[in-house]
Amino acid sequence: MIEIALTKAEKTSSLPIGQELVFGKIFTDHMFVMDYTTGKGWHSPRIVPYGDFPISPAMLSLHYGQAIFEGMKAFRSADNRVWVFRPYEYLNRFNRSAHFLQIPQMDVEDIHTALFTLLALEKDWIPGKPGTSLYIRPLVFADESQLGVKVADSYKLFIILSPVGAYYKTGFNPISIKVEDKYVRATKGGLGEAKTPANYAMSLAAQQEAYAEGFGQVLWLDAVHRKYIEEVGTMNILFKFNGEIVTPALNGSILGGITRKTVLELCRSWGIKVSERQISVEEVFEAHAKGELEEVFGSGTAAVISPVGELTWKGQKIVINNNQTGEFAQKLFDFITGVQSGKIADQFNWMEEIKG
Ligand code: COI
Repeated sequence: MIEIALTKAEKTSSLPIGQELVFGKIFTDHMFVMDYTTGKGWHSPRIVPYGDFPISPAMLSLHYGQAIFEGMKAFRSADNRVWVFRPYEYLNRFNRSAHFLQIPQMDVEDIHTALFTLLALEKDWIPGKPGTSLYIRPLVFADESQLGVKVADSYKLFIILSPVGAYYKTGFNPISIKVEDKYVRATKGGLGEAKTPANYAMSLAAQQEAYAEGFGQVLWLDAVHRKYIEEVGTMNILFKFNGEIVTPALNGSILGGITRKTVLELCRSWGIKVSERQISVEEVFEAHAKGELEEVFGSGTAAVISPVGELTWKGQKIVINNNQTGEFAQKLFDFITGVQSGKIADQFNWMEEIKG
């Protein structure tokens, strides 16, 4: 059983009222921190005032990228109770990412206790307005100082909390996406399945070029054939073809999204046909030409459900559902956010209450 030391912040602030919350700009008063040292294991779990870490210029994660993170959310329901969405799904994925980066495994129960202790302390920061939540960012980085490329012998784990609004400035409006034909995100046998900073660093050049061309996001194709659809910058991607929901299978180069999993479970429970398989970009464009492509949308923790209004591939553009939010994307968004905010009964047990 983890014993967490607590040092309270001398100066505290509070959730800004009457001000729009942008994504990830403000942080709560406290954070959870824990260290790992070879021979000792994970140790010194503590909640301390939110603040900077001293960083060695020779720190391994700065040089060679040995780091992983997660992104999860807490919500406030109208009756003023507070909840976390599917915490064990995220914490188990955190350990799967650790495996890819050769970061020592964590005790999921310990991290769960740490997270819920931190959230209980910071619960006044959990916003309750529609479209808002407390974003939870756990991260592990190698903090050993030395310049040889190797698996580190010491790490720091932290959890920070940030009250947030919508991830995209466009909110729930359809986004315009460029199908990327120059850069690739990941390949099988690489890090694509892990939630690690390298995958986001990889996306930046493509993202900047896409922004400069007026697109909101990039859709990645597979690295070998450059034709099979993988995922969008910060989301998984789903298509509705003739009433059926189709999404790329988890093939080793795609992140296994928890919102993706939630959407697929929901669709199956609603009796909607779901396929996880290879989808080529030609198939999407052909389905559109035949009038069979009904909707396209992304799913992600930060983005929730994000409708796609336009897809452009090698200069050819298709407009999906007249660039309007599709009925099905809206239904999924309403259901998932309804359960998260306590407006819809949690029949799948996705929500875990923060007590204390
Ligand atoms: C999330 O959806 O939680 C993510 O981690 C994506 C992004 C904000 C990095």
